[in-house]
Amino acid sequence: MAATISKKLLLSDLVSSDKIDRVPSNYIRPLSQRPNLQDVFHGDHSIPLVDLHHLHTPNRAHVIKQIGLACRDFGFFQVKNHGVPESTIANMINIAREFFNLPEEERLDFYSDDPTKTTRLSTSFNIRTEKVANWRDFLRLHCYPLQDYIHEWPTNPEAFRDHVAEYCQSARGLALQLVEAISESLGLDKDYISRQLGRHAQHMALNYYPPCPQPDLTYGLPGHTDLNLITILLQDQVPGLQVLKDGHWVAVNPVPNTFIINIGDQIQVLSNDRYKSVLHRAVVNCDRERISIPTFYCPSPDAVIGPAPELVTDDEPCVYRKFTYGEYYDKFWKRGLATENCLDLFVASSLT
Ligand code: OGA
Ligand code: NI
Repeated sequence: MAATISKKLLLSDLVSSDKIDRVPSNYIRPLSQRPNLQDVFHGDHSIPLVDLHHLHTPNRAHVIKQIGLACRDFGFFQVKNHGVPESTIANMINIAREFFNLPEEERLDFYSDDPTKTTRLSTSFNIRTEKVANWRDFLRLHCYPLQDYIHEWPTNPEAFRDHVAEYCQSARGLALQLVEAISESLGLDKDYISRQLGRHAQHMALNYYPPCPQPDLTYGLPGHTDLNLITILLQDQVPGLQVLKDGHWVAVNPVPNTFIINIGDQIQVLSNDRYKSVLHRAVVNCDRERISIPTFYCPSPDAVIGPAPELVTDDEPCVYRKFTYGEYYDKFWKRGLATENCLDLFVASSLT
């Protein structure tokens, strides 16, 4: 049978309109790039779990140390007692699900394939640059400063703006605490990193991964690092996130009311490579839709990022040149989700 390319703009509408029992050809990865799901490690404690309660007790130094080790050895950790109320989390997940269940014509009002738009619904990763599509739809929002963007957000479902704004503000509070903790863990002043971020920025994605008839042929998101500073990932109860550790993909299964934190490329730069922004990916499954909601905490576009001078020594020379976050952001979106690190374009000796 000849391969059919869908006329639907969004994957969720393709999946719900046609009874799809095979992955369309434009989603199929070449053999060498497939997820090899049988080779994935599944363990209960795949990444460290940090109890943030002790950030506010005399045990703070111990928590900072745990966070530092997690950033150094995994690039990922989970947090509990993070201060984001359970009801805020439940409302956020529920409103995301309601949004993706709206009729196609209502969602399509937000559709765009232009990565520079600050509010947009799209599919895959960047359909303008990629050769193989990913099994994902997503709504991307900018959310700090809130008053600059909230008027662009959906008003259907009716509670969307209220619930998402509440979640964003709470997630920002957590991000600021984590940024301080990470700064301290590097031996820097606790405000050092925050001060490098210009006016600060915060984006989020509402990711929707429909069930997939052949999950071993495609990805929700292929292996990538996050370009931003740190990511706070909220996910529903359906597994899908995997993290690369010592050359093996490790599944990170959902734990209710915890967040998954990962450091992004900008922490790798600021830390002069002491902390690595780690490859991770999202795989899909046959049975259940999955929702994940990353909060991307970022510098503002004009912020100048480079290794912290205190972390540049004779033994550890400066790895990266200085750049504005705006320049990094443009390069990242233009080149697509290649496995090669975008950071390579910014190494100090590179002439690019
Ligand atoms: C991302 C991401 C992981 C997930 O959106 O950058 O890594 O589990 N998502 O959806
Ligand atoms: Ni990511």
